Amino acid sequence: MLNREIKKRRTFGIISHPDAGKTTLTEKLLLFGGAIQKAGTVKRNKAEKTATSDFMEIEKQRGISVATSVMGFEYLNHKINILDTPGHKDFAEDTYRTLTAVDSVILVIDSVKGVEEQTRKLMQVCRMRHTPVIVFINKMDREGREHFELLEEIEKELNISVRPLSWPIGIGSSFKGVYHLHKHKLNLYSANKKSISGDYIPIDDLADTQLDTILGEKAANTLRDEVELVDSVYEPFDIPLYRSGYLAPVFFGSAINNFGVQELLETFIEIAPEPQGRATDTRFVEPNEKKFTGFVFKIHANLDPKHRDRIAFCRICSGKFERNTFYHHVRSNKNLKFASPTSFMADNKSLVDEAWPGDVIGLYDSGNFKIGDTLTEGEVMNFVGIPSFSPEIFKELENADPFKTKQLEKGIAQLSDEGVAQLFVQNPGNRKIIGTVGELQFEVIQFRLLQEYGASCRFRPMNTRKANWVSSEDPEVLKKFLYSNASKIAYDKEDRPVFLAGSQWDIDYALGQYPKMQFHENSEWD
Ligand code: G4P
Repeated sequence: MLNREIKKRRTFGIISHPDAGKTTLTEKLLLFGGAIQKAGTVKRNKAEKTATSDFMEIEKQRGISVATSVMGFEYLNHKINILDTPGHKDFAEDTYRTLTAVDSVILVIDSVKGVEEQTRKLMQVCRMRHTPVIVFINKMDREGREHFELLEEIEKELNISVRPLSWPIGIGSSFKGVYHLHKHKLNLYSANKKSISGDYIPIDDLADTQLDTILGEKAANTLRDEVELVDSVYEPFDIPLYRSGYLAPVFFGSAINNFGVQELLETFIEIAPEPQGRATDTRFVEPNEKKFTGFVFKIHANLDPKHRDRIAFCRICSGKFERNTFYHHVRSNKNLKFASPTSFMADNKSLVDEAWPGDVIGLYDSGNFKIGDTLTEGEVMNFVGIPSFSPEIFKELENADPFKTKQLEKGIAQLSDEGVAQLFVQNPGNRKIIGTVGELQFEVIQFRLLQEYGASCRFRPMNTRKANWVSSEDPEVLKKFLYSNASKIAYDKEDRPVFLAGSQWDIDYALGQYPKMQFHENSEWD
């Protein structure tokens, strides 16, 4: 039973630079999966895009992102779990953490714009984790870039080998469709297609004159030449290479026109990995182990400001999760029971009695969970690989209302447990430094501290641009380093020392002075 449930599941995330078409593609996948009946169900918040500082927008966004955090649906006897990743750069940390809970990703690239800034950053995280990636080149109905040139840019900029599995015929106004290179089928494009079933024409041999009749002689010949070139330039597709994160199959299409989405989904089910095992600090956990294990990768504050309840999103790693059963919360050494765990199916939330590896469940929480927490049936171990990355903006948190010091302390601790921002503390003096990747997060913190905890705060800008976690094999060297650099050292929420640098130069200089010190870009360096 356990093995059957594991084999059925595919848990993945869709990532892209904002505007490339992530929301549209998500929606179309849900449509194909029959999970929603019409497009427009997966609502998108424009606040995400415009970085507006309107608090109502922030609140709205919080609501929407709960609803769309996980979208599950059944397709061809498979249970597909799509984990939503915020597109806005200011919430990139949330996206990085979500990527720890997926087994593969689909990367959407705009055919006109090619590789963009967020694409690069997100792919860095995928490469670090060897996450298998499928590339979907979207907006083929627009006058986009030349296909080979675009593929070369992806390989070079994202540092991954690619292998087209479908090939476009023309582009923009002359876009005629795609040829599925493996299945030897032609899928002809018609704009604004309402139907979701593709009309495939089997063409086993590209020399077949039928191709000339359908596409016209010129387009048919171009396709023949290009396919020959593809076969000579790119290595044949290899599933193990894809699954180990080194080779990305590529599909071309137009999400808004439902085009190329079905090929993508069907191939995805065929090749994407089923739920994978995960490493802990003591051993590797396989999904088919009988005992339940899972970890929390995202915490969401409840929408009702009167209650401080939160929803912790837990990825199931092994065994079967059951409702109303005691599980061990390793960090606090407490046993917890969940009366109303939630599963997510498209736009619905519902109570679940059981869940399997690869599934994500929402657990109502009154403040027990931190991001990265592990649940087991009693074994003491912690899932690893949920690192923090260096923030980009640092500000000192100042208490603006001395009568509310306790509330501020509690609020900021809880918000950092939720992963809204990173909190570093400098001692002596208990100086609090907040690190974020975007300005928007400071506004969220200020707003939520006031609304939910009644605490007022101000932020004082700092010169710090980068935080590096530091270590040394020689404890004496570490001690001396920390002592002599005290003004640049702070501690993260796990009490790990962090070096606050104004620039890379500061790090290089410190390293010159202390060659036995190690500086790390993220909190889990080994
Ligand atoms: P995102 O989640 O990655 O930010 O992108 P989203 O799906 O919101 O798509 C961004 C814009 O690109 C949307 O237009 C969307 O309609 C358009 N789009 C998506 N897929 C295609 C495609 O295949 N071809 C073309 N031509 N456009 C596509 P918008 O005007 O910003 O929003 P909307 O008013 O259409 O919602």
